[in-house]
Amino acid sequence: MSVTPIRLLGDPVLRTPAAPVVDFDAELRRLVADLTETMHAAGGAGLAAPQIGVGLRVFTWYVDGEVGHLVNPSVDLVGEETEEAPEGCLSIPGYRFDCRRHLHVVATGWDQHGDPLRVEGSHLLARAVQHEVDHLDGVLFVDRLDPGARAAALAELAGADWTGMGAWVPRVEVSPH
Ligand code: NI
Repeated sequence: MSVTPIRLLGDPVLRTPAAPVVDFDAELRRLVADLTETMHAAGGAGLAAPQIGVGLRVFTWYVDGEVGHLVNPSVDLVGEETEEAPEGCLSIPGYRFDCRRHLHVVATGWDQHGDPLRVEGSHLLARAVQHEVDHLDGVLFVDRLDPGARAAALAELAGADWTGMGAWVPRVEVSPH
């Protein structure tokens, strides 16, 4: 296991849809271990493989003291209830913006051994799952902000000293929840 540098906004890997995992092998288990360790070292609630430069559909989370991971996830948004709350991203360090997310989700996928896994989450866990699955599609949480909030966020991020903001281009247009 090793702590791996986290890619920052402006890195093309964050805008590239990740590929499904095919082999549930030792390499996958090392990836899950690296994601988990890197997430803990950074103090994050979740981390997706593209954030450490690996284009595979894997993410980890650490919410309410529970750590988990999911491979090749698909997420169902449950019900119509949403919640707006401050959200951040380890790839956009130092910034938090209010983002509206579904309150409840059910995510299904596989664990690192290839066994099926189902995760039900609300509030922060639901938010983390939606955020991380977005990463696997090249979507960042700032893409999910309301247009006005997004413009304000962009203006703020333009002052960030850790990336070339010329790379700020939503890869896909997403509709707000
Ligand atoms: Ni993130």
